[in-house]
Amino acid sequence: MQALTRTIKLRWNEVFRPVNSCRKRYRILKGSAGSGKSFNVAQDYIKKLSDERYRGANLLVVRKVDESNRDSTFAELQSAIYRMFGELADKVWRINMNPLSMECRLTGNRIIFRGMKDAAQREKVKSITFKTGKLTWIWCEEATELMPEDVDILDDRLRGVLDNPNLYYQITMTFNPVSATHWLKARYFDKEDPDVFTHHSTFRDNRFIDAEYHRRMERRRIEDPEGYRIYGLGEWGETGGLILTNWVAKEFSTAPEHFDAMALGQDFGFNHPNAILLLGWKDGNVYICDELYLREHDTNEIIPKAAEKFDRRLLMYCDAAEPDRIRTWQQAGWRAVRADKGPGSVKAQIDWLKGRKIFVHPQCVNTIRELQTWKWQKDKDSGAWLDEPVKLGDDAMSALRYGTESWRHGANFSW
Ligand SMILES: Nc1ncnc2c1ncn2[C@@H]1O[C@H](COP(=O)(O)OP(=O)(O)O)[C@@H](O)[C@H]1O
Ligand SMILES: [Mg+2]
Repeated sequence: MQALTRTIKLRWNEVFRPVNSCRKRYRILKGSAGSGKSFNVAQDYIKKLSDERYRGANLLVVRKVDESNRDSTFAELQSAIYRMFGELADKVWRINMNPLSMECRLTGNRIIFRGMKDAAQREKVKSITFKTGKLTWIWCEEATELMPEDVDILDDRLRGVLDNPNLYYQITMTFNPVSATHWLKARYFDKEDPDVFTHHSTFRDNRFIDAEYHRRMERRRIEDPEGYRIYGLGEWGETGGLILTNWVAKEFSTAPEHFDAMALGQDFGFNHPNAILLLGWKDGNVYICDELYLREHDTNEIIPKAAEKFDRRLLMYCDAAEPDRIRTWQQAGWRAVRADKGPGSVKAQIDWLKGRKIFVHPQCVNTIRELQTWKWQKDKDSGAWLDEPVKLGDDAMSALRYGTESWRHGANFSW
């Protein structure tokens, strides 16, 4: 091991030192965006899993939506391997792309990746086994996306006597604290528990973040103070001024026969996310069934991804401000149409949405995050809530406004 470790020393942020030595069962890391949580956790796991002393440890990495592991947790762990071992990386770790997995050739320790978006995926988690050793560690990235039942299932997997005295069971969670009403707060932060270690970090604790990032955060502080609380300070988002509170996240069948009508809503974006929602209408209630939420993708890249998820026979209500993009979708065979964007339409759409019950499938993690944080603007002088929504983090919300338009106007069928 020593011979294989590069002479270059791994670099760490001081703020995570107590995290990396913590052996408590629950290691809960909340923090601002860019504080270095994911980077640190990935590096910490690679170091431990490559170390003889932790022989018999195995790591399960979980995100609510499995596909997001590839570009986040998997990529972080892979680059930690290359930082640590350089050109010897392939000799020390075997990396498998399909399915995603990693195995340390020195220790036999493995890393696997899973999602928890429905019953089938949860069943798969229940039957995980490892060639050598046991499942000892679980990393829940963006843990706010998980439901408490998901975590209970994971928790159940960590049991039994461990042969190696250096090993211990541990669940690690990393996330931005989107909402003070989130169950994670009640479960891990609001009561004393000797098995729980909670940790707080901000981008100011991260000595590797660049000056441009600091400036961007400073702009956010001025333009979107509530968002800055969460993403800049890493503090629980407050609930005052929320636009929609009449929604619940719960699992339901998204098959078309369960609805009176279905439709798609799309808000175009490139730097801001491009959001497409699959919506259902049943007994006067709105169901948010599925989402496609992509940053920095061209229309030509989005269309094939949409085709994998959605039925192109559905009417797709789009942002009327971009007729060119609507035409591109039409040319690709989609029933894309303009949504109402007249004066007062945003207010009318919101009023109408407030009068429904809204059910969101838990797999719509980005939509849920927006629902938890979508707020009215605050008057800078009086502190009163204004009639205008904050124009940030509202991309799925726009898709929701557009996609429900025919139901607002009383049409029941959109096939
Ligand atoms: N120990 C480190 N060494 C070098 N760069 C780091 C380190 N920790 C964080 N960074 C840099 O900071 C960025 C943000 O860290 P990240 O872990 O993604 O933040 P968070 O998960 O808290 O949002 C990383 O992409 C990386 O460039
Ligand atoms: Mg992160």
